[in-house]
Amino acid sequence: MTRQFPDGFLWGGAIAANQTEGAYLEDGKGLTIVDLLPTGEKRFEIMKGKVDSLTPVDGEYYPSHKAIDFYHRYQEDIALFAEMGFQALRVSISWARIFPNGDDETPNEAGLKFYDNLFDELRKYNIEPVVTIAHFDVPVHLIKEFGSWRNRKLVDLFERYAKTIFKRYKDKVKYWMTFNEINMLLHLPFVGAGLVFKEGENETQIKYQAAHHQLVASARAVKACHEIIPDAMIGCMLAAGTTYPYTSNPDDVFKAMDRDRESFFFIDVQARGEYPGYAKRFFKENNLTIDMEEDDEELLKKHTVDYIGFSYYSSRATSTDSEVLKNQTSGNVFDSVDNPYLKTSEWGWTIDPKGFRITANQLYDRYQKPLFVVENGLGAVDEINADGTIDDDYRIDYLRKHIAEMSEAIEDGVDIIGYTSWGPIDIVSASTGEMKKRYGYIYVDRDNEGNGSLKRRKKKSFYWYKKVIETKGINL
Ligand code: BG6
Repeated sequence: MTRQFPDGFLWGGAIAANQTEGAYLEDGKGLTIVDLLPTGEKRFEIMKGKVDSLTPVDGEYYPSHKAIDFYHRYQEDIALFAEMGFQALRVSISWARIFPNGDDETPNEAGLKFYDNLFDELRKYNIEPVVTIAHFDVPVHLIKEFGSWRNRKLVDLFERYAKTIFKRYKDKVKYWMTFNEINMLLHLPFVGAGLVFKEGENETQIKYQAAHHQLVASARAVKACHEIIPDAMIGCMLAAGTTYPYTSNPDDVFKAMDRDRESFFFIDVQARGEYPGYAKRFFKENNLTIDMEEDDEELLKKHTVDYIGFSYYSSRATSTDSEVLKNQTSGNVFDSVDNPYLKTSEWGWTIDPKGFRITANQLYDRYQKPLFVVENGLGAVDEINADGTIDDDYRIDYLRKHIAEMSEAIEDGVDIIGYTSWGPIDIVSASTGEMKKRYGYIYVDRDNEGNGSLKRRKKKSFYWYKKVIETKGINL
């Protein structure tokens, strides 16, 4: 049975500055971490914190430098989103457009103006901007100068950046998010926090110290947002996806719980306001010491988020059996063993619509705060037919099943306020840097090597999603 989604439920799409804008040094923008990520094998090494150069290297191709040129084409793209009936567009602000070095005395007016124009364009079509303050783009200068988030200094700089954009856009933006997929820091520390490791360093210690800094920075941003824009909502953002135990062996079940807690740790702090007991035990048993300032605990307790934003692409599975552990799914950033009941995408990401409902229920049971699905979708290769059309039925199938499960979750009593599917227009893949891994309803003529006219073209899913929005989810 298909159900109608509630009135006021926000339908739309989600993109990020670093994967769409391009114009990587235009109008005063500084270099950010993603501008140092080439395509290919090397990309993963760098994302994990093994970085040789903090400037782009001659002869390498960096897909973010031009991306899909959203910086110059946002009007055309927003008109297409409006045609689909979008009520919300999730975007991120690039920190280095506002403060090119991250620690500049004054903000860059050209950067501020760009986002003014972008938000005005959205408002023209009654599209609500949903804004991520940090989506994988620490200014590179902050790595050179301070070692990025390993340094407490970043808390103050981030707070200043956040206050600057709250003041500037207070009449235009009512939905905010602090850090995109904050738990990514543990898996891809360069992408999540600009961390670069030296040989022999205790990486776990550095990651959790950086995590503490981001959590404090997030709480300060929540505080500032509530003061500057009292009618706004500000949330956190989790790379979600429940972990299944491979068997009912209690050891497997415990391990699955433990794996989930690795991610929940961040949201427990952001939504409940304190470090959970299991984290304190983990720190003790691993000899980790987290430097905190006197008022950190009070700040975290007082300034919790208003909603839980999350991305959902896949569920995960784990086991304590070394034989089972050999069967890892490929491609996904989160370790997971193959689930024999589920298929995977062309990039090895497990496809599990029911897992979406389970994840939403789990998050709501745990936090009892509104949820916002700010990413979901299928990365796939698209072929253009001889007549220029693109029949992306596989994408429609993925989204249809996930949206249906989301409606089940709402029926279960989960308070979900909106759904912005990932990459409504094809963009650069965060994990691989490819263009070939497409999520869009709108095709962009650009390939993995940066060739192509950048021309936009509607896919079959474009018309399908338009209908979904028009009928409030009835017509799946
Ligand atoms: C999330 C990120 O991890 O997943 C996005 O917030 C990213 O930035 C998305 O693009 C999909 O991943 P990928 O690697 O297919 O682009």
